[in-house]
Amino acid sequence: MSETISKRKREHIEVINRDPMVDRQGGFFDAIQLQHRALPEIDLQDVDPSVTVMGKTLSFPLLISSMTGGDDNLVRKVNRNLATAAQITGVAMGLGSQRVMLQQPEAEASFQVRDVAPDILLLGNLGAIQLNNGVTSEQVQDMLLRVQADALFLHLNPLQEAVQPEGDTNFAGLAARIGQLQAALPVPVVLKEVGAGLSVRDIELGISQGIQWFDVAGRGGTSWARIEQHRRKDDGQLGFTLQDWGIPTPVAMQQARPYMQQANFIASGGLRDGLDLIKSVIIGGCLGGIAKPLLAPAMESTEAVVAVIESLKKEFVTAMFLLSVQNVADLRLNNALLMPHCQPN
Ligand SMILES: Cc1cc2nc3c(=O)[nH]c(=O)nc-3n(C[C@H](O)[C@H](O)[C@H](O)COP(=O)(O)O)c2cc1C
Repeated sequence: MSETISKRKREHIEVINRDPMVDRQGGFFDAIQLQHRALPEIDLQDVDPSVTVMGKTLSFPLLISSMTGGDDNLVRKVNRNLATAAQITGVAMGLGSQRVMLQQPEAEASFQVRDVAPDILLLGNLGAIQLNNGVTSEQVQDMLLRVQADALFLHLNPLQEAVQPEGDTNFAGLAARIGQLQAALPVPVVLKEVGAGLSVRDIELGISQGIQWFDVAGRGGTSWARIEQHRRKDDGQLGFTLQDWGIPTPVAMQQARPYMQQANFIASGGLRDGLDLIKSVIIGGCLGGIAKPLLAPAMESTEAVVAVIESLKKEFVTAMFLLSVQNVADLRLNNALLMPHCQPN
């Protein structure tokens, strides 16, 4: 069973490398247009992109979204390169699903990144569906302690599971279990999707269960329906038909707006440059998350990951300058930075 999980993680990476169309390139952030300032009245040198999230200071609001982990050399290398780069550049990182740790002790090493990333905001990860498969709060707490995570990403992936050949599809009664887990853990649970978005009803259910953090992980980037279709032995179309199912990330953030007083939001899914990132913050994100664009660099080297992150940062800082905004706090939910036709009603 656990060897199967490591093998599956490896297959996901192979599919992503083989089929460029698993990145759906939705371009949904293009519809958000920002107000250029020709007379910004600030010095580019004075722009400060740093933020503090969950008590940790980041050099700018970037999260390396959860990707991988397991008993596999490639996966170990990917996580180490991502974590080392996160430490060097001062950004946050999510680990991939730690479910494999529960069944295969050898997999644990791939999640142990604190030796190279002692200071970063680090989030552990588990599929919420595992709470319906008997995984207990004690096991989850132990899993988080072992990797010294600051919080837990609990992912909701009904579309992926429905298309996955060996998928788990019993999502009945999960909300209450999520609430019990949050009540038992000393760290925040961040409820996330994996590329199809969280709806208003999902957010309301989460809040009713004591969840205070959400990552909408919407549509526009990596399509798990398409990835899993490649792993199906049948010649059907299920995953291709559903490859663009879901709520586009900016729409999910827009819908979440009424809840941004009570809860904290991360925007991810299809962010592809520093402009998508700054737009994510303007529409209410504490952080913006990026996964797939960092995978190929992470398979190469730490330096390759650092180079991508540094260009994202340069784009983000340049956009702050051109918006005449010196601090990230002045970006968040600032409608005046959006062109009038892009402003929420
Ligand atoms: C190779 C790969 C593996 C992933 N594995 C996980 C995972 O284990 N747990 C999780 O919550 N999300 C996982 N994701 C989903 C991402 O965290 C993210 O939500 C999604 O890919 C959308 O971001 P993107 O469009 O920037 O890739 C994975 C994504 C990629 C590309």
